[in-house]
Amino acid sequence: LNYHVPKTRRDILEILIKGLRRLEYRGYDSAGVGIDGGNNKEWESNAKSIQLIKQRGKVKVLDEEVNKQQDLDLDIEFDVHLGIAHTRWATHGEPSPVNSHPHRSDKNNEFIVIHNGIITNYKDLKKFLESKGYEFESETDTESIAKLVKYMYDNRENDDISFATLVERVTQQLEGAFALVFKSVHYPGEAVGTRRGSPLLMGVRSDHKLSADHIPVLYRCSIIALIHILFTCMSICLCLCFYYVAYSAVIEHTNRVIFLEDDDVAAVSEGRLSIHRIKRTVGDYPARAIQTLQMELQQIMKGKSSNLITHILTLGGLKDHIKEIQRCRRLILIACGTSFHAGVATRQVLEELTELPVMVELASDFLDRNTPVFRDDVCFFISQSGETADTLMALRYCKERGALTVGITNTVGSSISRETDCGVHINAGPEVGVASTKAYTSQFVALVMFALLMCDDRISMQPRRREVIQGLRVLPDLIKDVLNLDDEIKVLAEELYQQKSVLIMGRGYHYATCLEGALKIKEITYMHSEGILAGELKHGPLALVDKLMPVIMIIMRDHTYIKCQNALQQVVARQGRPIVICDKDDYETAKNSSRTIRVPHCVDCLQGILSVIPLQLLSFHLAVLRGYDVSRINKLHFSISSL
Ligand code: G6P
Repeated sequence: LNYHVPKTRRDILEILIKGLRRLEYRGYDSAGVGIDGGNNKEWESNAKSIQLIKQRGKVKVLDEEVNKQQDLDLDIEFDVHLGIAHTRWATHGEPSPVNSHPHRSDKNNEFIVIHNGIITNYKDLKKFLESKGYEFESETDTESIAKLVKYMYDNRENDDISFATLVERVTQQLEGAFALVFKSVHYPGEAVGTRRGSPLLMGVRSDHKLSADHIPVLYRCSIIALIHILFTCMSICLCLCFYYVAYSAVIEHTNRVIFLEDDDVAAVSEGRLSIHRIKRTVGDYPARAIQTLQMELQQIMKGKSSNLITHILTLGGLKDHIKEIQRCRRLILIACGTSFHAGVATRQVLEELTELPVMVELASDFLDRNTPVFRDDVCFFISQSGETADTLMALRYCKERGALTVGITNTVGSSISRETDCGVHINAGPEVGVASTKAYTSQFVALVMFALLMCDDRISMQPRRREVIQGLRVLPDLIKDVLNLDDEIKVLAEELYQQKSVLIMGRGYHYATCLEGALKIKEITYMHSEGILAGELKHGPLALVDKLMPVIMIIMRDHTYIKCQNALQQVVARQGRPIVICDKDDYETAKNSSRTIRVPHCVDCLQGILSVIPLQLLSFHLAVLRGYDVSRINKLHFSISSL
């Protein structure tokens, strides 16, 4: 949105599409833009229209489509031109132009909206709106929001209703998680954004010195902060739910941002921003600070980040709470995906060093079960982004029940880092692609560090503490050694890439490695993979093993070694030809394996940091060989560079 600096439509589209490209490495499947239509200056006062361009596939396809549009005068200049843009990862409905965002209220595009998150009551809304004569064209949950806003507008009680008020009313009907940006022909030059559960940040740019570094939050009134907003940035921010990634779309325009809170309604009109809230809640600040991001674009794009080991050794955000944590009834680690696996990986060392019961919970399941939580529980929320909706909801659930909440996040300023009582920033640097790798390593290390902190005054624990601390010291060099196996793993990937499935088996400290390896393979190679606890082999999974099924086993010299040898025998007995990740000098295991990947030995509770790397590298090479464009989602590149 530009004031006083006329821009051509081409300039605006360039900003939007470039922003979408910055987000592309996360592997989205469709993209769309909504811009002001009309081909002459008269439009600004009279003819109101919105043009939507949406395409399945990469942003490049959208860009080509934009350039193909005959009736779009790209050179026309506007004083005010507002566009919103979005990239989609299909959840409701296949990737297609009609399912892509922005979604529209009707054929005239009176209201359009882009959305991140999930509307859980969309079926009820759809039923209601259909009964009122609205015709739906897509299979998405988002479309019900576009229709609902028009319904609210058509049934408004007074003509002066502001766009922000309208959006406020819409959000009151929505259940689930959302970050939304609206645009409408009825409010030309205006846009409104709001969030609940999903993050939303606004990039702020001014050609003049800003009159304030805080934006007052208005509670149903309307004073306005005199700043200019680069609104296109805000819209681009919606493309992803992770702030760091959103930064990458914004940072080349401005490093000044506002993190919106849940239920904030931010309205931009005539170059001014106002933030409204429906009601003031306890602990809510009356203003939103404009924060200056320190990170430069090159850092984000190149993945330059702080050294994970050296930075993580001080847990400053926890030290004041350690005594309280030591008195607790149990520790509950709550997370999703890779972050959950970091909890699984460290559970044993946490139990050992804290001597407390430790539960590791998937956030969604934890909530589904209405898990009992008590005031003397300590709940950890592990999240790379600090924004994952289920983890955030679980945090609020535990807070309501009076538990002490601890965040382990990689994103300063994220919702989880703000809403927890205390915590650790893992400082792993931005995870640019979807598949979290270095964040996993750093979460793992942070949790081990926490366990060490919990027992630092226990005399009986000191020998073990020293062993683990020494393990941490040598870890960076050992990681480099494992990364040197890359060529060997590439050869393995060449043998496996045409297979349909890979089973990964292990137990003890390496059960998490199996789960995480299988997740990485699924997530970036689109190949089926299953992580199997070797102790469960005879209870079903063994039936899958034959001479054709690729099996990877993790067998390290720790307290489960003999049991793992047993599992290896079972696989061989079924004519399986296991590929084994094992200790460098374990020739015994090599005898029964079709291939070994030998990794250096480390203290048992940290060995999982090393054993997962071959699987991360394998998933990378498999993805490349299977034809997926990982050049931009290559998080391993970032992992390597950060080590
Ligand atoms: C998404 C990603 C996973 C990630 C999970 C948790 O589903 O695809 O790779 O592990 O979220 O993310 P978080 O940011 O909370 O660690």
